[in-house]
Formats: sequence, C-alpha cells, structure tokens
Amino acid sequence: MDWKKDSSGRIDLEQIRMSMDLSNYIKAEMSMGADAKLLFEDLQGTLDHGIIVARLARMVAEELGESKEFCQDMALAGFLHDVGKMRLGRYLYGRKKDMLGIEEMKYIRMHPEFSYEILKKMDYNDMILKAVYYHHENFDGSGYPDNLKEMEIPYGARILRICDVLAALVSERPYRSAFPVDTAIELLIEEARNYDLRIFLALQRVLQGDGFTRLMPYILAANQSVREKKT
Ligand SMILES: [Fe+2]
Repeated sequence: MDWKKDSSGRIDLEQIRMSMDLSNYIKAEMSMGADAKLLFEDLQGTLDHGIIVARLARMVAEELGESKEFCQDMALAGFLHDVGKMRLGRYLYGRKKDMLGIEEMKYIRMHPEFSYEILKKMDYNDMILKAVYYHHENFDGSGYPDNLKEMEIPYGARILRICDVLAALVSERPYRSAFPVDTAIELLIEEARNYDLRIFLALQRVLQGDGFTRLMPYILAANQSVREKKT
C-alpha cells in the first residue's frame, strides 16, 4: 500500500486507523464464510463513494468560503460518513441491493448512528461527528435519524447530504446505470426541498468548475469497474 505521508514524512494517522477498522471487518466477514470476491466489490464501492463524497464536500466548503481547517474536516467527514455500514455487512451480505424489506430499511437507517459511534471512539471533532450523525437529515424535516429541519441540521451535515446524493446519482449501481451530471442536477432540483438552497447553489458552481472536471475520470473509472462486474 502506498501510504500518504505528511510534510515530516510520517504516515497519516487517519489512514492507519481506517485500515485497522477495515482489516478487522474483513477478518470478521471472512470468518463468517463471506465470499471474498463479493466482499471486495462491496468494499471497493464503499471506498469509491467515500472518496467522491470527500472531494465534493471539500470543494463545496471551499466554494462557500469556509476556512482551510473546516474544508479539510468536511473531506474527512465525506470519506468516513458511511463507515457504520461496515457493521451492517453480515446482515446485508448477499442481498439484492434494489429490494430491501421494511426491516432491512429500518436497520440500514441506523448506519449514521453506527458511523458516529465508531468515529467518536477515535476522538474525531464535534463538527465531523455531527456532520456524520445527521448526514441523512432532509432540509424539510423528512430525513433521519431525528427529523431535524432547516437550520436545526448541523451545517456540515447539510453539505454532506447533497454531496452524498449527487455522488450516488452519478455512480453506477448494481441495479441501475449512472445518471449523467445534467440529469443528476435535474433530479436534485425535483427534490430541492431536501436541501439547503445556498449549499445547492454552491454545489452547482462546483460541478461547473475545474475541480469537478479533475474528479470526473475517477467517477468514470469506478463506474466502468461496476459495469464490468454486472456483465
Ligand atoms: Fe449514508
């Protein structure tokens, strides 16, 4: 593995923490008889999604004029927001991803809480923890876990929410094709009540900028890899 190092040459601590979590997860899943290939595909999808949301969240925070530290924290929150889904692995393993029952949905809705618990133990700061815990809250109060609305929803969570949805829409899924960016924006507009308008507008500007142009090849490569597994 090619570890990212800081200016003094030390390996980035967050990477070590993440890889420890990941290897424990893989060990646990394999001991339960998980299929290594499917497990790898699941993990690859989760990592790709985290990387895309991280980049989008950082760019949106920059576009909103936030501090360097805040933008960096948004990147971390974006990368880690779904880490709690690792606890759902055994429960969801082998699922038909487009057909979730009510019980499964209830369980999946607990993942922001699981993410929060995992990250809290690792002493992530309050902004990151709140952004992760509330990343499925909708601006109109229809989200979860606490049905918060408008400015009750922590700022970071409002940023993550729309970046998460955009990233999902432009990504290939086992049960549907990726949407082109223009269509993804139209779909977001149809559900505009779910999002903070100021953040939505910042995202739209980001999608027209150089940063997103540089991210696009990564998204296309990830989509191609999912498409190959479908055939
Ligand atoms: Fe999520």
